[in-house]
Amino acid sequence: MALDAESLDKASSGIDPSVATAAGMYDYYLGGTDNFASDRRAAHRVIAEAPEALLLARENRRFLQRAVRFLARDAGIRQFLDIGTGLPTQGNVHEIAQQEAPGAHVVYVDNDPKVLAHSRALKTTEAGTTGVITADLRDPQAILDHPETRRLIDFDRPVAILLAAVLHFIADDADPYGIVDRLRAATAPGSYLTISHVTADSRPRRANGLRDVYRSTRNPVTHRTREQVDRFFHGFEYVDPGLVYVSAWRPDGTSDVSPEEVWVLGGVGQKP
Ligand SMILES: C[S@@+](CC[C@H](N)C(=O)[O-])C[C@H]1O[C@@H](n2cnc3c(N)ncnc32)[C@H](O)[C@@H]1O
Repeated sequence: MALDAESLDKASSGIDPSVATAAGMYDYYLGGTDNFASDRRAAHRVIAEAPEALLLARENRRFLQRAVRFLARDAGIRQFLDIGTGLPTQGNVHEIAQQEAPGAHVVYVDNDPKVLAHSRALKTTEAGTTGVITADLRDPQAILDHPETRRLIDFDRPVAILLAAVLHFIADDADPYGIVDRLRAATAPGSYLTISHVTADSRPRRANGLRDVYRSTRNPVTHRTREQVDRFFHGFEYVDPGLVYVSAWRPDGTSDVSPEEVWVLGGVGQKP
């Protein structure tokens, strides 16, 4: 997506092309073009350690898309708070949600200013229903209080909180469980939580290699075990099939990988 001069101007203060970011690297894994040379160099180092990195990104993205489709179509959710959005690509959350439920509201949140700059064009797709803000998951109250969140999300009604491939960028000392709990407390009964999270459980050597590369980027990675990822769902009840490797979450026949090859866990839970 082209970067218009005004967006670049607004966001440029926080963009440092010399430091690789999770957003830029993920864009590269997915075949996008909104990445810098630093992102591509770091991504190649990850691929050298874990050649399945591209597969992980693709399967994670497909999981998110299936989860959003389920939430909009089967669960009747009409408002989505997508934190750790990443750069726009094909099949973005608002496109899938609004395909299933025209007029659904979506707020995109990312702490990488490049995401806001690149996402401005998205707002025009369905005027007034999609917002993009730069904010940090480590300060959930700022996200909840942001005027754009308040404009688009009614917290008295069920909302879907999407935390896809972002919690592994929150270190233990930033209290990731406290953050998810704050978000849960802000939502109405019937709301949903969607999480995907890298784990070292099935391929520890490769996962550790990936983590070592991300240490030199703007977004160091913290692996968590299945048990630790499960803890994020405290106060939620899983919808079927629970917490599984993302390729095994309600597969739609488009993927032919064996689930444990894709060491990203994913699940969707509902607040009773
Ligand atoms: C791997 S991408 C995931 C994109 C998308 N959620 C998906 O699953 O397809 C992770 C995104 O999380 C963002 N991120 C990392 N730490 C964050 C934080 N503390 N607050 C908000 N966003 C964060 C990164 O900038 C990046 O865009």
